[in-house]
Amino acid sequence: MTIRKPNIGPSDDPLVDLLSHRPRRLRRLPGLRRLVRETILTPADFIYPLFVVHGTGVERAIESMPGQAHRSIDRLPAVIDAVVAAGVPGVILFGLPAAKDAAGSENFAADGIVQQAIRAIKARAPELIVMTDVCLCEYTDHGHCGILGVDAHGHGPIVLNDATLPVLGRVAVSHAAAGADVVAPSGMMDGMVAAIRGALDEAGHADVAIVSYAAKYASAFYGPFREAADSTPQFGDRRGYQMDPANRREALREMALDADEGADVLMVKPALAYLDVIAAARDAFDLPVAAYNVSGEYAMVKAAAARGWLDERASALETLLSIKRAGADMILTYWALEASAWLAEGRDDVG
Ligand code: PBG
Repeated sequence: MTIRKPNIGPSDDPLVDLLSHRPRRLRRLPGLRRLVRETILTPADFIYPLFVVHGTGVERAIESMPGQAHRSIDRLPAVIDAVVAAGVPGVILFGLPAAKDAAGSENFAADGIVQQAIRAIKARAPELIVMTDVCLCEYTDHGHCGILGVDAHGHGPIVLNDATLPVLGRVAVSHAAAGADVVAPSGMMDGMVAAIRGALDEAGHADVAIVSYAAKYASAFYGPFREAADSTPQFGDRRGYQMDPANRREALREMALDADEGADVLMVKPALAYLDVIAAARDAFDLPVAAYNVSGEYAMVKAAAARGWLDERASALETLLSIKRAGADMILTYWALEASAWLAEGRDDVG
């Protein structure tokens, strides 16, 4: 038997002369491509973000995020039914309070907008996983993710880390008491996971999980969300607490700390410009990894598609696939419903 050497190109031996490596063989037919596909998206990968507001009969389109809306509680059942029908396992809630103040009081009010929404969703679809974003920025009049104060020299205002922790614990307990399954602290305060774990356990909510926005970068890609959530800081920026986009080792350190403090899932945010961080997280930790396909990643494809410059379906699915391929176990995405419908079409390029 002659063994063909894996050579490409001319040789004296007519057998060796054959082109023996032909990766295209397995790309020839849709069935072959499906058999060798390494990453497969399913609706079970997605978590759908929802924005809830006070009032009745409100379903107001969010201009910066085409296809997304502000909804009052009475408008939730229809979208919740759609999420369940799509096979998407969970939602994450963001609330717009009736009034903002320095401490963000509605954040931990029993009848706060998020607490009402949790109860309404659990009443409609008890099996649907309800996650909540635990942060101050949508509730504070200054738009920062913590309590403001001055430093040891009287300089400020700055976001006070340790004074913010009990507030985050209180918010998480209030969400848990309303029926949330998962809380997701997004404020990048040091020790936030430990503070929330402690507060939840003490209040009898040991079974509520924490998905920590562990590696959250100070990113330009949150722009459309800040319009949607009315959470733009009124002065300065978030670079004193969110991570520097230049740093990857630091992300691993942030994630190690959060894992140590009791995080059940580690999140990287944004996703697309940080695929290397998602991949590093996957390698370094056994915990599930979540990735947030943020508002700017969504809006830029929507905007280009609206001009006919990109095919939205193909671009969105390719984006989501890349996030999963990088190592994410779950993806928070505004495309959750549309992507599930596209996947159900069963075309041969992703499923
Ligand atoms: C903070 C929070 C933000 C997002 C989720 N949680 C905004 C921020 O940190 O400024 C951004 C989500 C997105 O852009 O889609 N509560």
